[in-house]
Amino acid sequence: MITLDDFDTYPDFPVPGVLFYDISPILGDAATFRTACAALMPREPVDVVVGVDARGFIFAPVVAQQLDVGMAMVRKKGKMPGVLLESTATIEYGASDLVISPVGIENKRVLVIDDVLATGGTAAAVAEMLHRAGATSVEFSFLLELDALNGREALDGHTVTSVVRVP
Ligand code: PRP
Ligand code: MG
Repeated sequence: MITLDDFDTYPDFPVPGVLFYDISPILGDAATFRTACAALMPREPVDVVVGVDARGFIFAPVVAQQLDVGMAMVRKKGKMPGVLLESTATIEYGASDLVISPVGIENKRVLVIDDVLATGGTAAAVAEMLHRAGATSVEFSFLLELDALNGREALDGHTVTSVVRVP
């Protein structure tokens, strides 16, 4: 089981007032990393796993391989070529322009994986792009959810699973 004790915490990073939850201790131990990936598995059948740049990229491919489905990337703008959908996420410490290729998303059931659900700005932007790309359903799995920031409210209508929740 993954608990809050498996994360390192850093006050005032990357900006004053923000408590940063570091996943490095989870990644550094094979059994804990395996447990974390297993806990991110979807509740419903999915056709594709989407990983969110950057820390979602650590977990999404492991889950996709386990499910025997493909993976797609949501990237920060400027890193991916081709015809893309774009959305701006308002996050806890700033804003982030995100892009995704719509290829392979239409009529697909999608699992989105990221490490943290904070304000929900990132995840809501991802959901919006996936619906625009024609996804039939969008489920979310996070390793950590910061309840106080109400990110879940931004994902109304979606199945949302968090491995660890911080009250
Ligand atoms: C962090 C985290 C989530 C997002 C959560 O990413 O990894 O993706 O913020 O915040 P939100 O719910 O308020 O949107 P960030 O872009 O800071 O860094 P990363 O590139 O290291 O993943
Ligand atoms: Mg991130």
